[in-house]
Amino acid sequence: MALLGLVEVDSLEALIIVDNELDPMSPAAPDTVQLSGGMGTLGMCSPHDLHDRGEAVKELRMSDICCSAHGLSVLVTATKGNVKHSILFDAGPEEEVWAKNVARLRPDLASVELIQLSHWHRDHSGGLLRAIRMIQDAKAARGASHHLTLDLHPARPDYRGFMLGEKIISLEADPSFDDLAAAGATIDKHDEVHTVLDGFFLISGEVPRVTPFEKGLKGAMRYNGQEDEWYSDEAIADERFLMCNLKGKGIVMFTGCGHAGVVNSAKHAIELANKSMPLHAVVGGFHLATSEPQQVDSTVRALKKLDPAVLLPGHCSGWRVKFAIERQIPGTLSENRLLEYFNDLFRHATDASPNCVEVNLAGGWRSFFTRDPEHVKAVLTGNFASYGKGEIFHELWSPFLGDSIFTTDGKQWSNSRQLIRPMFIKDRISDLEIFERKTQTMMSLFASPGEAFDLMDLFYRMTLDVTTEFLLGRGIHSLENPQGEFVHAFAEVQRIQMLLTVLGPIQAFIPRGAYKRGIKTIDDFVLPFVHSALALPVDELEKLSKSEKSFTFLHALAHFTRDPKVIRDQVVSVLLAGRDTTAATLSWAFYELSHYPGIYAKLRAEILSTVGPSRAPTYEDLKNMPYLRHTVNETLRLYPAVPYNIRFALTDTTLPHGGGPHGDLPLTVLQGDAVIYSTYAMQRRADLYPAVSDKFADPAVFSPERWETWTPKAWQYIPFNGGPRICIGQNFALAEIAYTMVRILQKYERLEYAGDWEAQFHKAEIVGTPGKGVNVRFNP
Ligand code: HEM
Repeated sequence: MALLGLVEVDSLEALIIVDNELDPMSPAAPDTVQLSGGMGTLGMCSPHDLHDRGEAVKELRMSDICCSAHGLSVLVTATKGNVKHSILFDAGPEEEVWAKNVARLRPDLASVELIQLSHWHRDHSGGLLRAIRMIQDAKAARGASHHLTLDLHPARPDYRGFMLGEKIISLEADPSFDDLAAAGATIDKHDEVHTVLDGFFLISGEVPRVTPFEKGLKGAMRYNGQEDEWYSDEAIADERFLMCNLKGKGIVMFTGCGHAGVVNSAKHAIELANKSMPLHAVVGGFHLATSEPQQVDSTVRALKKLDPAVLLPGHCSGWRVKFAIERQIPGTLSENRLLEYFNDLFRHATDASPNCVEVNLAGGWRSFFTRDPEHVKAVLTGNFASYGKGEIFHELWSPFLGDSIFTTDGKQWSNSRQLIRPMFIKDRISDLEIFERKTQTMMSLFASPGEAFDLMDLFYRMTLDVTTEFLLGRGIHSLENPQGEFVHAFAEVQRIQMLLTVLGPIQAFIPRGAYKRGIKTIDDFVLPFVHSALALPVDELEKLSKSEKSFTFLHALAHFTRDPKVIRDQVVSVLLAGRDTTAATLSWAFYELSHYPGIYAKLRAEILSTVGPSRAPTYEDLKNMPYLRHTVNETLRLYPAVPYNIRFALTDTTLPHGGGPHGDLPLTVLQGDAVIYSTYAMQRRADLYPAVSDKFADPAVFSPERWETWTPKAWQYIPFNGGPRICIGQNFALAEIAYTMVRILQKYERLEYAGDWEAQFHKAEIVGTPGKGVNVRFNP
């Protein structure tokens, strides 16, 4: 089958005008498809400016919020270069709803060139007449061409309806061809696949039914007026989907109800594209609201095999399928692929500044997104005094981390750093006794040889136990007791914190209940430790400080200050810094090792020749295994644990280049502007590496060997950042990671991945983790 001239478009925007569901409050996952229409955006974009209510700037009127109705209407706009085309896909069930929501959303109606009716059903056609008139009015007001095509299937039923027991329920008639033409549209009838609007869109013909579980719409009927008879019409054969070919992504398709079956439709779309591109997104009705659980299950399994990146089931899909998708294909409803989103921003970059883009976020935040090593260097060291966490970050993060090393600048920050640094001197971190105890406990929980288990979960529990013991003198024992309340609260607070950070000014609308409850749970855990350290008399602390073994981080803090809040803030901050970062790095290392038995074997050989099969490694041993070091470096190159970071300009300042017509002048950054940098995106920039050769594998591939002959240029490899705020726990982390790897590899000869290795994705919250866990099998 041919592609029929479907061209690749650069970008795609879908404005949902009518849908069954309305939820302007739940935030989208931070890095999913960009969503508009949330409460925050509505407030910020409200036309009702205020000048008489103190500092309030806008009034959000309830009448500005869209309403939902049983039906679907989506305005799809595709852009290629300077050319834009817009299609209205269905018009919802009622004229009033369509008109009201259009008045609220204010889309550019004059630009609509074509309306496609997905199929003859009143919940898609009910708003058509009004939509045509309003589009024509908008065109007239702009003085634009009046041409408006209405793309319809020729087989319009006189009525549609459905059986309810023995009774037939009729729907209202769809608008007639004559009425639609009279409203101002040129009718174009098609039952075959065709492309429209310069090949930007493809409208399917009838969808072949190939799956055994998609059987059409149970009980659907069609009325023939001439015969005054109702007939069974479960196939709803006139349904046609809309699809586009989105650059760098693949097929994006819109289904009205998916009566042909959403899997049949998706498979047909892949066929129509000659199987030449992946299925990226399916948006619209999946018609599973009334289906049996088995059908929902079969659909989700089959969709999973087609591996879409985004699923946006709406209209008649029903909540059950959304729930099943979230369970079976986590990440597709709320896709967490921040790298793609981040890199995608550089489509808007100019030739003068290809690796830094300026973005103006809602609420007047100006941000520079950069993956340029010179920029990162300027922010972290060259212009260190001009950039900091800033007041916004401090305010946003202080409920969780208070006035600690993470949230402050200037004197406050340097005091914290001085206080914490002594805990990370070599003598303290070269004591590997905690690592030994915890890795042994962890390995005792591994599944039996040959059985699959999630190694990542154990790494997270182990690093929590190590870090709490290192900081507080007593571990939390999450390895033995995984369901602890604290463990859950710590993860939940981090998740919400990241959300609040990326949502910028709109975060004010995010409910804080779970966040506050989580912080209370953390405090309930940490504060008793703090109080018991403060209960020690000063001379006792003094005595303890002479004994390396029993003098903990907590004691050091209590020795320095008697303020429980200061101690609590620093403890929670270092716990955050030290726990997930290390667990994520270990997880990625084993994820990669499980795919490369050759690398695993080579690493194991080095370990066995250094420490034998059972001896515990010393700090010196860990330093003396170059291939082990290369393996950890390579893991941190592909997966730097803190993938995204932010600094605010504390004064008017600059970034070293990217300004001026040729990009050779500094970029002006004003006080309050944000610079968002990604070591993850930067360290994956192919242009920063030598050409691929026998000695240097493709930089996208995991290859510890590259480190044997290559050293990264300054500021191009900075998993621990650099400059005055470089990670204070770097050596502690490297020792913990290396120690754990040595102990595991000593014991097991082979490692195998037990999940779908290719399906893995980088889930970025504060720390970037393997989104699907690390399911493996070990063999002795
Ligand atoms: C693989 C593991 C680790 C990685 C990749 C890592 C990475 C980083 C990065 C990128 C920063 C800079 C954050 C910023 O300035 O916004 C940082 C800061 C920090 N890290 Fe780590 N870290 C790791 C492990 C640890 C551990 C184990 C500890 C302590 C137990 C720790 C303690 C800290 C502290 C206290 C800071 C704040 C430094 C400051 O602002 O002056 N880190 N880390």
